[in-house]
Amino acid sequence: QPRADLRGKHFAITAGPTRESLDPVRYLTNHSSGKMGFALAAAARRAGAEVTLIAGPVNLPTPAGVKRVDVVDAREMQEAAERAADLCDVFIAAAAVADFRPERIAQEKIKKSDGSDRDTLALVKNPDIVAGIAARNERRPFTVGFAAETEKVLEHAAGKLSRKKLDMIIANDVSEADSGFNSERNRVTVLDPSGRTELPQSLKTALAEQLIGMIAAQAFSQ
Ligand code: C5P
Repeated sequence: QPRADLRGKHFAITAGPTRESLDPVRYLTNHSSGKMGFALAAAARRAGAEVTLIAGPVNLPTPAGVKRVDVVDAREMQEAAERAADLCDVFIAAAAVADFRPERIAQEKIKKSDGSDRDTLALVKNPDIVAGIAARNERRPFTVGFAAETEKVLEHAAGKLSRKKLDMIIANDVSEADSGFNSERNRVTVLDPSGRTELPQSLKTALAEQLIGMIAAQAFSQ
């Protein structure tokens, strides 16, 4: 597959986890490293695209020539993503957004409740960033999601593809050894409304090149 020519195209990509504060010293998050999203940003840039990378808290260098917007929680990520989506041709949601956030952020450090060995935490649902963008009537970019699953991978991914009205979803099994979260490698299946393509396990950097080629072929086919 020759490298796509993405000059004049604008990509917006979310990457990494979100971090949802509980109080001034604690938060909820997940094991996303951001590697897949950063690799996609680098690959799109190498193909000539203008790239906005909306990054949760990760320890990764900004790929050369990429505009990076750092965010912490899901609502900040949504604000930055909505703004970037207004200007982009392709939106790729590679971030592992926390599904829920604490209902309140305590102003002071939460103290252990006296005399009880149990406590509960009230959570509220975070906005679904990619579903909001895919549901647009105007200025709707070609919209791609990821589905990190531990079982029934293709079934769950196909459900998300149609429920969130995505143009494409990239499914991976995060329970597989040496693949998915925090790994340098990944093995994915690409699903779109017309079918599925299984890709062999590869380095995320190589996989990103291939995925950007597949996305470009679909998004700019006419
Ligand atoms: O968490 P879930 O499996 O539903 O994620 C599927 C896709 O939706 C991913 O592309 C993820 O980035 C995106 N997502 C999002 N906002 C959320 C939850 C998920 O953009 N609040």
